[in-house]
Amino acid sequence: MYSNAAIITQLSDGAGDVATGEGDYTSSLSAPGVALESLELLDPYDGDEVLEIGTGSGWTAGLLCHRLGGESVTSIELDQNVLAKAAENLKAAGFSPKLISGDGAKGWPDGAPYDRVHVTAGVRDVPYAWVRQTRPGGVIVFPWMPAWEAGHLAKLTVTGDGKAVGRFHGGCGFMMLRSQRPPIPEFEGEFRGSATDLDPRRIVRVSTGADVAVAGMLPGVFGNHAVDNDGSFDLWLWSADSDAHVHYAPDYKRSAVKQRGLRNLWEEVESAFLRWVSWGGPTRDRFGMTVTADGQYVWLDHPENLV
Ligand SMILES: C[S@@+](CC[C@H](N)C(=O)[O-])C[C@H]1O[C@@H](n2cnc3c(N)ncnc32)[C@H](O)[C@@H]1O
Repeated sequence: MYSNAAIITQLSDGAGDVATGEGDYTSSLSAPGVALESLELLDPYDGDEVLEIGTGSGWTAGLLCHRLGGESVTSIELDQNVLAKAAENLKAAGFSPKLISGDGAKGWPDGAPYDRVHVTAGVRDVPYAWVRQTRPGGVIVFPWMPAWEAGHLAKLTVTGDGKAVGRFHGGCGFMMLRSQRPPIPEFEGEFRGSATDLDPRRIVRVSTGADVAVAGMLPGVFGNHAVDNDGSFDLWLWSADSDAHVHYAPDYKRSAVKQRGLRNLWEEVESAFLRWVSWGGPTRDRFGMTVTADGQYVWLDHPENLV
């Protein structure tokens, strides 16, 4: 049977039983559509050395071997049981990439420099090791999964002066690099109540440009939302030190806001969204990212125009 869906191969880092489907998704065979989009962005040439982060089932490593030959492919996986199964799968398919057990966030310096780095786990903060280990002109493709809303496939090219620069392409959703899984902070204290004229549904539904802009302006702000059968809508926001909740109900003209902690997260999100509106609502393809040894920066249209 063929379908454009991911196949979950591990739950809760191996503690869950895949047959039950209960637990957190921690390894998979990536959905074919997004895997092919990401490999097309990678666009390796004959003879390129590729480092893949997140071997998973070994499927995308196998595709890279088919294209380049196993001697040009190094794939790194953190989970030893997952890696052992991938090694079996790849052997059965007749492929023999170099398989490394380790933390892909550190890259694999022994095989550097690479022409291409292909990342198949979600990345919030791009590890600088990948830039350092890629040749100038080489390409890093990864699912950027910022704190805020959905993920975006990113393709960065490494410059000669120690940076990587590039743009966002299609949407995606990947399980995160283990060290970058979202924190689940617990908050205490009284909420500050207020109300807003901005319909919170606009912010999460309006476009895939708004989410890049908000994510770029508010790097550590997470969001989640739910729509109820009665048409009401809830938006939850949180960061390391603050949280907020916005409730929209069809009968009320204004939405109820509750905020607590050091920051007024709703007001920050509202103002980031309205800045994006004031720029004319640019779409995702107009945004890009630069990664340097000091951090990562999201920009609009050209790398000097930081958001
Ligand atoms: C979506 S799956 C990879 C899918 C794979 N490319 C395939 O086609 O089967 C993500 C994988 O990344 C692995 N992973 C998560 N964090 C990692 C890290 N820091 N270093 C290496 N692998 C990691 C997970 O264990 C998981 O197997």
